[in-house]
Amino acid sequence: MQASEAEKPRIVILISGTGSNMVAIAEAVKKEEIDADIVGIISNRPNAAGLEKAQAMDLHTDLIDHTLYASRDEFDHALIRMIEDLKPDLVVLAGFMRILTADFTRYYEGRLLNIHPSLLPKYQGLNTHQRALDAGDDIHGVTVHFVTEELDGGPNAIQAIVPILDVDNAKLLQQRVHEQEHIIYPIAVKWFCEGRLNMKGNEALLDGKALPLRGVQLDSRN
Ligand code: GAR
Repeated sequence: MQASEAEKPRIVILISGTGSNMVAIAEAVKKEEIDADIVGIISNRPNAAGLEKAQAMDLHTDLIDHTLYASRDEFDHALIRMIEDLKPDLVVLAGFMRILTADFTRYYEGRLLNIHPSLLPKYQGLNTHQRALDAGDDIHGVTVHFVTEELDGGPNAIQAIVPILDVDNAKLLQQRVHEQEHIIYPIAVKWFCEGRLNMKGNEALLDGKALPLRGVQLDSRN
């Protein structure tokens, strides 16, 4: 009897907007750089441009409009039910602009990744590009991290450093950060799907070794 092929890791991606990180990950899966199945793209906004992009790539899409729920709690529990129907091994937040309840983050602990446009732990929250410029920083960047109860506070897996140039404004800086996002998010997802990246306690481990505070750092100045 032939041994049945092991099932690939199942990925669900949550979006709210343009979905360019979702596309970067989906393309890496399509090119077989990531050995996984994307089993669903879920948006909390009906007009998210990423939904059409996902459909154009023949990906299954679902919509769960947060404005139709009376509370954050009710929405998050409905979202968990929708995600669970897809039986994921990994849930990827790719520009999913909702604060998640502790019930949600605990449910997916160790299998929930997020991308945040700053060198965490610097600049948690919003307007990160302008805040880095206002502070007169030389460098800025982006982080992929495991999600825990603390907003933008879970252990870091990988960062890309982006230099801040004299001519920069928030829009230009954001564009260069975005380019790096599309490089590092597929890397982190690949590591996770290969079983190389995981979370233990409040640490991210790569190949069994605890990563430093900032995670693996790629430096786009090199
Ligand atoms: C990305 O820049 C991501 O870093 C940011 O939203 C954007 C989504 O872009 N996420 C956050 O700010 C989370 N706090 P995309 O829809 O094109 O992937």
